[in-house]
Amino acid sequence: MQRRDFLQLAAAGSASWLAAHVMADELPMVVAGTDHAAMGHSMPQMASPVTGGGMPPLPAGEPLPALPRLGNETLDAGKFRAALTAAPVDAALWGDARQTTFWAYNGSLPGPLIELWEGDDVDISFANQLAQPTTIHWHGMPVPAEQDGNPHDPVAPGGRRQYRFTLPEGSAASYWYHPHPHGHTAEQAFRGLAGAVIVRSKHDPLRHLPEQHLLLSDLKLDAAGQVAANDMADMHDGREGQYVLINGAWQPMIPLAQGERQRWRIWNATSSRIFKLALPAHDVLLVGTDGGLLEQGHPVESVLLPPGGRVELVVTGRFRAGAQAGLISQPYRRGKMMHPEQATDEVLASIMQHGMKPTLALPARLRPLPPLGEPGFRRRIELSENMADPKAMFLINGRSYDMNRIDGTGKVGRIEEWEVQGNAHMDHPFHLHGTQFQVLARTVDGVWEDEPFLAWRDVVNVAANESVRLRFVQSLPGLRMLHCHILEHEDQGMMAQIDFLAE
Ligand code: C2O
Ligand code: CU
Ligand code: CU
Repeated sequence: MQRRDFLQLAAAGSASWLAAHVMADELPMVVAGTDHAAMGHSMPQMASPVTGGGMPPLPAGEPLPALPRLGNETLDAGKFRAALTAAPVDAALWGDARQTTFWAYNGSLPGPLIELWEGDDVDISFANQLAQPTTIHWHGMPVPAEQDGNPHDPVAPGGRRQYRFTLPEGSAASYWYHPHPHGHTAEQAFRGLAGAVIVRSKHDPLRHLPEQHLLLSDLKLDAAGQVAANDMADMHDGREGQYVLINGAWQPMIPLAQGERQRWRIWNATSSRIFKLALPAHDVLLVGTDGGLLEQGHPVESVLLPPGGRVELVVTGRFRAGAQAGLISQPYRRGKMMHPEQATDEVLASIMQHGMKPTLALPARLRPLPPLGEPGFRRRIELSENMADPKAMFLINGRSYDMNRIDGTGKVGRIEEWEVQGNAHMDHPFHLHGTQFQVLARTVDGVWEDEPFLAWRDVVNVAANESVRLRFVQSLPGLRMLHCHILEHEDQGMMAQIDFLAE
């Protein structure tokens, strides 16, 4: 109930910053009188970005806010009905009279979490109250092309439409939704329009674990404390602001007990950041990717999460006195030319120990994930840059996106194998609509290396001057986009479209 109340508060434009409100009744807090240092409470050193014009840094260290949930308006089994509105909203980032204007779904930053079940028949009624055309794209989800918020289907300012689809069995995973109008996607996303989707399975082997949801977004403020416009450097490198927010909060605190096992779903909803996520001290198993669970968990030191991508981790609390342990993003060079590359660990959240808990068991196998068979068709996709032409700087197969040009045709049900080549000095995270793919191999320093295990993905980072080989099947017909998920590159034309024809 408190989530409902919160949503309405936010929509009304009052007291809408998430961190302060939501968590008090959601999370067990640290027992009063506990000696945090002795218990291993770790508050890593936090950098304090200062925005221009003397705006103070945002408040940090609040408990991680829960994502508000989008309520289901029907009690009918197997159906999900709800409404989403995109509209400007003011938020009090500093908890005082200063207001920052965002664009938000249902007044919430990020947008409400949509929780669905495999087999659900989904009907979302959408209203656009922005001054620009927009769409809702169901990133990664197997929805019909005409329901997928393609740039060809804009909802005009003041307009409405229904998005309707049915979720197939086997589609359980963490997805997200964001706008996709051509030329405005980056701006609409960085002004706040992005939300998480979880599709659940009745046979989820990890349903006994408590979940944390972490939606990472980027915030760049100008000297007046408003969301800054993109500058030339952002257009080139991809936007990176002063802040990485998690569920709308800067450097929040995540409680975890010694020995406790939690399932973390993490979304990268930033325009262009490639996170190299690590949780030093704690045990981390990678159990899922964009398209859901792996066959089994793999212990990892760090995970590379490109923009648009998601991972599922099983985190086990391992606190040692004095250990500094937060959720960090380690330095990763993605070939930026105009912005400095990240040189040190960036703290995204702190982890605070609260008590001890028994460690819940994990199944050895999560689900079958068989390889796709031999391809019936092969394509080569080249990602390139042409710095000489500011009107067509980011290209796919030598061309800039044209909504009225079909760049190829495919067939529903046929296995395709693509070699995606980064003939570029920057990394370009590659995304395909409508389905999930399996990465088979990639080059590292120009030498092909097989992937260590199969996973379902819809975004794969294609590093500068490297290639990725992947396979997929489209099971629904229609026009599907493929593009760089650095949203500034996508808006500038690093996108193409293939029409998949029914047999
Ligand atoms: Cu996340 Cu074409 O998009
Ligand atoms: Cu997408
Ligand atoms: Cu790119």
